[in-house]
Amino acid sequence: MDKLAIQGGQSLRGEIRISGAKNAALPILCAALLSADTLHLDNLPKLRDISTTLTLLGHIGCQISLDERGGIDLCSAQLARLEAPYHLVKTMRASILVLGPILTRYGEARVSLPGGCAIGSRPVDLHIKGLQAMGADIQIEHGYILARANRLQGARIVMENVTVTGTENLMMAATLAQGVTVLENAAREPEVVDLARCLVSMGARIQGVGTDTIVIEGVERLHGAQHTILPDRIETGTYLVAAAMTQGDIVLTHSSTDTLDVVLDKLREAGAQIHCAGDRIALRMDVRPQAVNLRTAPYPAFPTDMQAQFMAMNCIASGVGRITETIFENRFMHVQEMQRLGARIEIEGNTALVRGVERLQGATVMATDLRASASLVLAALVAEGETVIERIYHIDRGYECIEEKFNQLGAKVRRVH
Ligand code: UD1
Repeated sequence: MDKLAIQGGQSLRGEIRISGAKNAALPILCAALLSADTLHLDNLPKLRDISTTLTLLGHIGCQISLDERGGIDLCSAQLARLEAPYHLVKTMRASILVLGPILTRYGEARVSLPGGCAIGSRPVDLHIKGLQAMGADIQIEHGYILARANRLQGARIVMENVTVTGTENLMMAATLAQGVTVLENAAREPEVVDLARCLVSMGARIQGVGTDTIVIEGVERLHGAQHTILPDRIETGTYLVAAAMTQGDIVLTHSSTDTLDVVLDKLREAGAQIHCAGDRIALRMDVRPQAVNLRTAPYPAFPTDMQAQFMAMNCIASGVGRITETIFENRFMHVQEMQRLGARIEIEGNTALVRGVERLQGATVMATDLRASASLVLAALVAEGETVIERIYHIDRGYECIEEKFNQLGAKVRRVH
């Protein structure tokens, strides 16, 4: 299994390009199942979760071809199997996103229930309840969701929790339903908005995206389209925090500056100087970071996917920072590993109190989930000596060419096979 060996102590300097957003690309790839025509996508990140999704779409019968510029054509003219098998779903929960599209287009779908997940119990009950409200008959048998519906019917669905993939699944299902669907308490994440833009370019009728009430008027069919995936705000935020922690001076290109307001505010509070112009973000940090307090919540509040990275920054900041996680239980798995590097963190319920130390010390640590792994890379960049991060397959799920990008900024990161 691959490891990363990181020699700490370098200030990050230079310029890198931000990739397309994983969490927008995953539902948009699944949207290709909604039409018999070709969906062309650009700016798809090269990640393991993307190749898992392409394997899943190929299994279902979607024809996939890459063009010389890195774009991809997906054609779901005829589907061979209306199912997502366990061995693919268990490696990536987002596989559940094929449920809505297959069911609404073909009237039946068989999708494995996702297994346990490292960051707390992440049920899919709201996906199921929403589809049932649209008239689907859903049974759970042998670990699979079996869904049937002659044609889904528009409905008013009030979601108990804000769920990102739940909103996306139901929005896709509603595009081909009969009548109007209203999703209340819908997720407002930029990735949901990007999916809606793609669906609209395929002929869907959707209003209210980016607000908590999305209205979808079902149509008979969707057609082919071209769509460019929006930049990854979490990848952007991760490199910005890395630069702030190492007192660096970096520029990120091909990013988006309007989806990161709270993250940029928190970095400024920590002492960073940030300048945004077009799709470029520059960050310079001349001082030791100041600890920040934060609380995760659905967009536009502070993203749970940036919590672990800010925890890493607080570990070496001056002062005490309080971090409260409200989205996922058990999303403090990085804490034990950071403590191995010398961090001073106390956990009480869903709050972590982090007392900044002058320096961390390199050690062998283990990556546990995607963002936790990223936070260990950040901690390693400022730790004295070498840190070895094991089980980095988690990082490859969500960060394109992570060692190349960090090395381009002057870090010393080596992949050990
Ligand atoms: C998505 C993101 C993930 C991010 C998360 C929160 C993708 C592929 N993944 O995950 O990176 O961390 O949003 O921003 O986009 N819940 C239920 N029942 C459900 C669904 C969710 O109770 O049917 C709960 C979850 O347990 C959690 C909360 O709702 O407490 C939010 O989860 P959700 O937004 O669904 O996360 P994902 O869409 O899986």
